[in-house]
Amino acid sequence: MFPHTQVTERLLRWFEEHGRDLPWRKEYKPYEVWVSEIMLQQTQMDRAVEYFTRWMVRFPDVESVAQASEDEILKYWEGLGYYSRARNLHATAQRIVTKGNGRFPNTVTELEGLPGVGPYTARAVASLAFKEPVPAIDANVERVVARLRCLDQPVKHKESQRAIQESARDMVAVLKPGQAREFNQALMEFGALVCSRNPRCEECPLESMCLSRKAGLEHERPIKGKPKEVVRITMATGVLVHHNRLFIQKRLPGDVWAGLWEFPGGVIEDGESQEQALVREFQEETEMDVVPTWRIGTVRYSYTKYRVTMHGFYCALANGREPEPVLSAASRYEWIEFQDMDKWAFPAGHAKLRTIMQEQGPGVETGE
Ligand code: ADE
Repeated sequence: MFPHTQVTERLLRWFEEHGRDLPWRKEYKPYEVWVSEIMLQQTQMDRAVEYFTRWMVRFPDVESVAQASEDEILKYWEGLGYYSRARNLHATAQRIVTKGNGRFPNTVTELEGLPGVGPYTARAVASLAFKEPVPAIDANVERVVARLRCLDQPVKHKESQRAIQESARDMVAVLKPGQAREFNQALMEFGALVCSRNPRCEECPLESMCLSRKAGLEHERPIKGKPKEVVRITMATGVLVHHNRLFIQKRLPGDVWAGLWEFPGGVIEDGESQEQALVREFQEETEMDVVPTWRIGTVRYSYTKYRVTMHGFYCALANGREPEPVLSAASRYEWIEFQDMDKWAFPAGHAKLRTIMQEQGPGVETGE
């Protein structure tokens, strides 16, 4: 038997004392709660707070998001990854302003209809911003319940999901009116700070009720699922310099990193050298013939299941003619000044390359 009332009371008391002082926890404005939840979907708390704070200075309300350009939205998101989150925020803000007259959707049903808002985010926003008494189950909550109940399947297993949802629903059902805001955060916060992957059972207010602790299995619960697949790839990227300007292109809608800017390049195929891959990719993506002139360096980064090694080169036009790019992997291109590189939103690998270029300084590729 799971002691719901005792658990909820203890968690609420714990949260009052230990809850972090986060910027959206002052007024719980729906717009702020929504932005924070979207940022937190794939991002650690410290980083989310940093980006959130900067975001709110530039975009203090839903109207300012709706009116901004996609380039500016992506620039403020640069470095957070999973950029569809930013594109969805932008689209949603525009929809709220034009179709909803600026009224923020305030129920789970309405919220779930928004781009980028899934079952968890809809319930988190509805409970935090509007105190709707619904459970909001994220990875922290899954871990806490799986440990408390000593579930014998990984959290994503059907039976575990049923047990977790049942416990979360039953806990919310014993709350007093208006407590869902604090309780859902208490449960998540407790999972992040106490019942973490490496649990701190000495300071746990639920220790006496925890079936895993009782069985001495607190480090063995939750049971691990299948490890995620990892794919390694190697890429070559070219920074074409012409009349002291650098060629960048904007990635196509629907593509990974849609709307972000990059230097052309791609995956090195079997039997190809880095330089050959670069020349081929440049030709395929822009119909321009280039020659590598200077090795910028190698960067490593991850996205989703990929672990990427990227070799960057400065390059020049091969034929001495004026460039006439014909794009097949991008919607637009620009020739930009070296000093302006920071104005454009680049994905992680290209941003790392940019940092190396900035450290080396302009003109390095021509030996100036
Ligand atoms: N994770 C996602 N949203 C959160 C919140 N509001 N508090 C703590 N952790 C969270």
